[in-house]
Amino acid sequence: MKILVIGSGGREHALVARLARDPQAHVLHSAPGNPGIAEQAETHPVDANDPAAVCALARSLGVDLVVIGPEAPLVAGVADALRAAQIPVFGPSADAARLEGSKSFAKDVMAAAQIPTAAWVTCTSPDQLPAALEATNPGGENPYVVKADGLAAGKGVVVTKDLAAALAHGEACLSAPGGSVVIEEYLDGPEVSLFCVSDGKTVLPLAPAQDYKRALDGNDGPNTGGMGAYSPLPWAPAELTEQVLDSVARPLIAEMARRGTPFSGLLYCGLALTRRGLRVVEFNARFGDPETQVVLERLTSPLGELLHAAATGALADLPSLTWSDDAAVTVVLASPGYPATSTSDLPVRGVKEAAATGCRIIHAGTKTGPGGELLTAGGRVLCVVGTGKTVADARASAYRGVAAIEIPGGHNRSDIAALAGGPTSAPLPPQRNEDSGSGRE
Ligand code: AMP
Ligand code: GLY
Repeated sequence: MKILVIGSGGREHALVARLARDPQAHVLHSAPGNPGIAEQAETHPVDANDPAAVCALARSLGVDLVVIGPEAPLVAGVADALRAAQIPVFGPSADAARLEGSKSFAKDVMAAAQIPTAAWVTCTSPDQLPAALEATNPGGENPYVVKADGLAAGKGVVVTKDLAAALAHGEACLSAPGGSVVIEEYLDGPEVSLFCVSDGKTVLPLAPAQDYKRALDGNDGPNTGGMGAYSPLPWAPAELTEQVLDSVARPLIAEMARRGTPFSGLLYCGLALTRRGLRVVEFNARFGDPETQVVLERLTSPLGELLHAAATGALADLPSLTWSDDAAVTVVLASPGYPATSTSDLPVRGVKEAAATGCRIIHAGTKTGPGGELLTAGGRVLCVVGTGKTVADARASAYRGVAAIEIPGGHNRSDIAALAGGPTSAPLPPQRNEDSGSGRE
């Protein structure tokens, strides 16, 4: 197959790297891509968010499949333009991508489909905020959760015990013309990311993973796009995936089809395993980053065939997916200042040495300098993926790779997957979500 992957981050490099390992050799293209992607695919300097430009590229290359990585092109209608041009595309329409693009839309769909989620109130004016905060968190006993309604590049969610800060964030979100804000009940318990592939009718789950959202060890510091991830989750209930399919993914796909906006692509179910049961924290309309790096590392079925079947409505005909029993752990190396800022043009050294330890190195925010050297080009720079028989082994492997890489002033967490693996490890404690802003890159 000839496949074009749209995007330039770690998720897209993980997709390309996994497609390159399919038994059936593909011809791989990417736009715009990054230096890591360029080692396995031909890259094209095309604006990922421009539907006409992406269509023109796909047509000129004569590709059999376009895979859209990030959310922005989906919301911009790139998948719609490709479908209109009869080019098979993995990624939902702009209408279906509203599941990620609008928190209040996602809540409405969940209500209609009776999907368990945090209780919420949508506010459209500041005078509604105090009552909504009290209704979702009586007496301020738990943290308040305040979410900007639209895509906010990850900056839209504040979880805080401070009522004044919650009000201030709500007011800031509402200051934009036509702005609205979702106030919701706090969910305790560990978070799980479960990716489901759908063609609009059939749903196929991938392996569950867990992401580390906070910048610092011990789940401290500000929220980020994700500082590391691992799969499988040895502590998770065996029936978790079935439960999510029955109570979340299948009802959602059915409701989207009923509305005339079928969801075809990757449904990212962000879940909290609370004391009162499973709840949806959020939906995304694309693969998660960095969870994709570990989930695809473990997938042994051909990825190209899976994504093509989803794009062409043929998932029901596909054999069951197969998985490696090995664990995978990824650690994100970030540039100085992330997530508040990012630092470009710093030298990135030791990638070859890290790969020589047996890790896979995924490029997230890199570029090639004038002399061919590798430089930082964003907040999250590299993801180091280690594998092993247990999560503990995979973790040890990932950190061996991390030790070989040097980014001046860069930082990474040292506790990714620390509590997750091995027969003697305790179950993960609930992740603390209090007092966080949220950032992503
Ligand atoms: P979202 O953009 O909705 O995924 O929110 C970003 C992050 O904020 C989530 O991954 C959680 O860590 C946290 N969060 C969001 N909603 C809640 C909630 N209702 N209760 C606790 N934490 C939340
Ligand atoms: N890792 C979180 C996300 O992709 O949204």
